[in-house]
Amino acid sequence: MSTRPRRPAPATPAPGKVALPDLVAQKSTGVPIVMITAYDAPSGQAAAEAGVDVILVGDSAAMTVLGHDSTMPITINEMIVLTAAATRGSSKADRAPLVVADMPFMSFQPSDRDAILAAGRFVKEAGADAVKVEGAGPTLDRIRAIVGAGIPVMGHLGLTPQSATALGGFRAQGRTADAALQLVEDALAVQAAGAFALVLECVPAEIAAAVTERVGIPTIGIGAGNKTDGQVLVWHDLLGIGAGSSPRFVERYADLHQASLDAVGRYVKDVRTRTFPSERHTYAIADDELAAFQAGLGIAAL
Ligand code: KIV
Repeated sequence: MSTRPRRPAPATPAPGKVALPDLVAQKSTGVPIVMITAYDAPSGQAAAEAGVDVILVGDSAAMTVLGHDSTMPITINEMIVLTAAATRGSSKADRAPLVVADMPFMSFQPSDRDAILAAGRFVKEAGADAVKVEGAGPTLDRIRAIVGAGIPVMGHLGLTPQSATALGGFRAQGRTADAALQLVEDALAVQAAGAFALVLECVPAEIAAAVTERVGIPTIGIGAGNKTDGQVLVWHDLLGIGAGSSPRFVERYADLHQASLDAVGRYVKDVRTRTFPSERHTYAIADDELAAFQAGLGIAAL
């Protein structure tokens, strides 16, 4: 438990653009950081207008948007298109969130040079403010390299989907004393490598709280309890888009899958019954123009 004194939270976030120091300030004042994934302009704009602090263009897009079974197949080019769209949408709001682009599998693992070039593309071509990379160990050099090139990096520990096979599947991490101690060590190493924030995915709440206490950078949890400095959820999970069940850490705030089925089902029915389009969806033509047109076709006026 923190004994750090907490200052009262500001009632309304200031307009403008969220910057890295704002997130550090939120950690010290105890105002939870709100992050959500977004993958296109409408979701970027809605997230920003709803008041989130950070948009993560997650490589979860491979599954939520592109229909893959894992995050592995998504390419840098696909991620660039999605990041650019989310950035454009989010910049329309009075207070534009920080946009973090997830570096997809094999965009940073091979070498520091690959990592810098890929991260640079997210900033130059897609307008991202920062990138996220998964893991510690060999990833630490990549974090140092990208930060050294002037691009802010968010770390990601716990369940790291790009190494899910090596971790034994999509399962909670840090559930033994040894694994939890390793997680704390990795978090400190990610911070020392220069990361400005850290995602903790699927770890016990007590372990996430202990990490949060020990690092100076903000932690953002997903399935990591409510003692982290912030929370992140996947857009499609939160809104109930797509059929199927959700992991236990998800709160579904809407059921847009059912709403879509209902709406599109009504559209199908209206088209089949010629109820849609109706008069109010139809453009008019002046009577004399219509008569001339019909004469031109050699048909009698209706
Ligand atoms: O890709 C993603 O959406 C993520 C979040 C779950 C943190 O990495």
